[in-house]
Amino acid sequence: MSGVDKMFPKPVYRPRRLRRTATIRQLVRETELPPGRLVCPVFLVEGENQRQPISGMPGVDRFSIDEAIRFAEGACELGVRSFALFPKVLNSEKTADGSAALRDDNLACRSLRALRKALPEACLIADVALDPFSSDGHDGIVADGCVLNDETVEILAKMAVVQARAGADIVAPSDMMDGRVGAIRSVLDAEGLTDTIILSYAAKYASSFYGPFRGALGSVPVERADVPKDKKTYQMDPANIIEASFEAGLDALEAADMLMVKPGLPYLDVISRLASEHEIPIAAYHVSGEYAMLRAAAAQGLMDYEAGLVESLLCLARAGARVILTYGALDYAAWWRREQGLA
Ligand code: PBG
Repeated sequence: MSGVDKMFPKPVYRPRRLRRTATIRQLVRETELPPGRLVCPVFLVEGENQRQPISGMPGVDRFSIDEAIRFAEGACELGVRSFALFPKVLNSEKTADGSAALRDDNLACRSLRALRKALPEACLIADVALDPFSSDGHDGIVADGCVLNDETVEILAKMAVVQARAGADIVAPSDMMDGRVGAIRSVLDAEGLTDTIILSYAAKYASSFYGPFRGALGSVPVERADVPKDKKTYQMDPANIIEASFEAGLDALEAADMLMVKPGLPYLDVISRLASEHEIPIAAYHVSGEYAMLRAAAAQGLMDYEAGLVESLLCLARAGARVILTYGALDYAAWWRREQGLA
């Protein structure tokens, strides 16, 4: 017997006892994430029979409306019934004021109507921001090198009404203009759309992890002297968390129904903080760059894609995200079914 054994007698407490078998581990698992809590982003294009691969995001395609319906039907069968729609708008329809966003026959609204009809039980989430429709590639209207706040908010509120009428259960302002949640709520209510849910991108950071998404939609800010080259005057500084708390508080006061943090994994502290500060559901967006990193590492044989995805999503849930948007939604659901012995 060495001196060390006298200082530290054999442990009475042995946490490993609860990790001995898969059944015991499942028994004491603190976080469960069924696929019904996932939202699958869906990229849309004009045309028919279109399934266009997106570079950097293997396994994710842009769909024409008919193909999007087939895709969503398959997702529902796997237990993923919520979809966030992102249209890739034709360049010829993009303008400085993003006016096509207000047309009820634009790609976003036609997709909403078609999916609403084909899948009445699905939850459809519409993105409220001007970037897919903006020839400048910004979420709001650009003038004199600035992204205008109040003028943009006025358009976004109208956009939300058009989307709600087209069949959106949830409108999700992803623009980070000030006061847009309140404006959207009052205009929706004035139009009798009191059941339309607002999922606010409350703490959306100016992140380098959105690259593949902007590539998928062709929504990179244009390079011109009078257009801001990044989104830092409206999206948040990654260094800040107190500000996230403030932003989320404002959105909650403006009657947001859910609050989102975006991106996901680098911002677990923000998710955790908002989850402890609010009684409404917190959502996290596991964004395109996070997905692309997993895929790229797996393609190089550096890690297992599915295991990395499952772990990432579980950690977002553990941190406090009730709802998770992820490009890996169907892959996760397939894994979940195997885990449950369903497949
Ligand atoms: C823009 C928007 C972005 C994403 C969702 N909505 C990109 C941006 O802010 O530039 C990114 C999502 C992702 O990267 O997966 N309104």
